[in-house]
Formats: sequence, C-alpha cells, structure tokens
Amino acid sequence: MTHTAALPASAGQNGTPEANQSGARVNKDAFAEAKDFLPLDGLDHVEFWVGNARQASAYLRALWGFTPIAYSGLETGVRDRASYVMQQHDIRIVLTAPLTPDGEIAEHVREHGDGVRDIAFAVQDVDSAWRETTGRGARSAMEPVAIDGGEDGTLRRSAVWTYGDVRHSFIDRRDYRGAFAPSYRKVKKPAAAAGGLSLLEIDHCVGNVALGEMDTFVDYYRDVFGFAQLIHYDDTVIHTDFSALMSKVMTNGTGRVKFPINEPAPGKKKSQIQEFLDWYRAPGVQHMALRTDDIVGTVRALRDNGVEFLGMPHAYYESLADRVGDVGVPIQTLEELGIEADRDEEGYLLQIFSRPIQDRPTFFFEIIERHGSRGFGVGNFKALFEAIEVEQARRGNL
Ligand code: FE2
Repeated sequence: MTHTAALPASAGQNGTPEANQSGARVNKDAFAEAKDFLPLDGLDHVEFWVGNARQASAYLRALWGFTPIAYSGLETGVRDRASYVMQQHDIRIVLTAPLTPDGEIAEHVREHGDGVRDIAFAVQDVDSAWRETTGRGARSAMEPVAIDGGEDGTLRRSAVWTYGDVRHSFIDRRDYRGAFAPSYRKVKKPAAAAGGLSLLEIDHCVGNVALGEMDTFVDYYRDVFGFAQLIHYDDTVIHTDFSALMSKVMTNGTGRVKFPINEPAPGKKKSQIQEFLDWYRAPGVQHMALRTDDIVGTVRALRDNGVEFLGMPHAYYESLADRVGDVGVPIQTLEELGIEADRDEEGYLLQIFSRPIQDRPTFFFEIIERHGSRGFGVGNFKALFEAIEVEQARRGNL
C-alpha cells in the first residue's frame, strides 16, 4: 500500500489524466493518489447468486478448470441456501443458490438471473474497513461480526453496498483455519477440473451503471474507498456508428484492485451497456477479467471444452501487425483462436471475451495476458463493439 496521507485532500481530484494517441487518458499518478485509510489485501472472493449452484459449479469445473474446494448446504446444517466454493490459483468464486422460494437469494435470481452479488475484499481489520467506509457515506450491508467456527477458529466479516444490488464484503480469515468459512465443509475428493488452463487471478471487475451515474460511482470509489482514477475513456473514444459508452477505471493504491465503471452513451441504436441494464434490470457486474500467463493454451482448452467467445472479423487481423508489432504469438494463431492484441506506451496485452455465460445477455468473462501494459485494450474497443452489436442484433436488442 502506498502511503500518501501527507497529500492534500484534493490530490485525488487534481491529477489531470494526460491523453495518449488512442484518446484514452492515463493518469500515471493514480497509485500515488489513492488513499490508505482502507488497506485491502486484494480480492478474497467473488460470490454469484444463481438459480442452480450445483450445475453452475459443474460448468466452472468442467469447462473453465475450477476445482470445488468447499460446500455448504443442507448437509452442513444450512437450510436456506447451497454454496460451492470454486478455486483456480488465486481466483476464488462462490456460487450460491436458494433452497426456498422466498428470501433475498430467490428474489435476486428472479429479478436479475444469475449474477455477481458480492465482490469481497481481504482485509486485516473488518471493523476499521466498515467504520472508514460507512463514515464516508457507504450504506452498511452487514455490521462487523465474528463468526465462531469452533476449533477452526473465527472468521470476521462486514459489508457495504455499492451499485445496484452488489455489495463489497470485508473478510478477515487470519484467525480461521477451516474450509472457506464456518458452516462450510471441505470437498475431500473433488471431481477432476478441466486441464490445460492457466487462470491466475482476477485482473479487474467491471460495473455497468445507469446513464448519468458513472461519475457518481467514480466519486464513490474515490471518496469512500480511497481509490484513484487510472484511465478515462470518453464517448468519443468508445463508439461505433450505432452505439457508444463511457468508461472510467478506478484503482486502489496497490493496483491489485481495478474497477472500470461503464455507463451507456446515446447513439443511433442501443448501447451494449443499456442492453445489460435492460436484462439485468439493474446496475451490476458486466464482466470479470481473469489474468493468464498462457492465453493461447488457455483459450485453446476453453474452446475445446465448448466455451464460446466473441468472434472478430478477418479485417481486424489484416491490420493488426501494423498496429501492435510483435506480440510473441503469430497473428495467424491469434485469428484462429479469436484473441485480440493491443499496445500502449508501457507494453502490450492479449485479450478475449466470452459470450454471456448464462441465458440472459448479461455477465461474461474476459481472459487477459499482460506484457507491461496496464491498459484495458482501448485499441480493440471499436472492433469489439462492432462484434458485440452483431450479436445484439441477433438477439433483437440493438
Ligand atoms: Fe475488461
């Protein structure tokens, strides 16, 4: 964590991002501008609320290479929900489904379909995290509690709300030795996960918010969480002939937690962000990027397993070498697998986007391999959005 307590209170607002060639403005001082009143040890886990957690866990295991490590449900004394904890390297995803027709989980699934409920942070002090954030205007979702796990120790947690029905939990598991959390049991003999994948950590989580709300949540992450703005893409950057969006990227002081915030922008037809909002029926998490050190092998395995990705047109690859130079993978291989490449002044990145992973056109995964670049592939946005619009049109949602 950077220590910037000596900076004036206005420092976070004064770092004027500078424009680069692509029109994205990168704020090189962002990490120094972030405040340290809320030390975060990265993401503890991301929890989805889904209609059928057993089947969702099989999907993440058999297609995406996640191993089930813990379970909670009727057999562990929990009567209203079943949860599966899925792990791959530093990525931990919890899938929770309701066991009863009423209650917050069933209502959430009825309203939103499957989606992200909680982006949980690992912290050392859940009381301080809750006090600092609620004291700065966050709405409390759970006052600090110490959950007794018997001989496994104690798990501490608290939570606050962010956009839509999404919340941020604060988790301190340093005094807890059991499987994930009290009421969970370890999965002793997990079924084999798909092989050949290398998904290492969550690179960023993207929130879609309503028209006019992007700056509200940019301010929220700055004022309540002490984050700083890393990049600003304006609507003159991210547009096609038909639709547009605006996006700003917030980061904490270590750069380990990065949250782009999108809002729809007016265009001739419907923004992909508006399509998400219409079908999720609220602001929510649009995608999570999973970082890999082997995007070629990982995407090949994912495709073999039946994961579907957005397609890019041949024309995109014809001009790619001129735009990005050598990216360590033959252009032919990138085209074969549908992987995109982008370069900025710091380096390059390779990325690909899955189709939505549930029936509603809402949440999807991104796979990203970084070589120096800390950006988000702005050079790909136009071609990417045109590819998304082809699919939106197929769904009757453009
Ligand atoms: Fe992304």
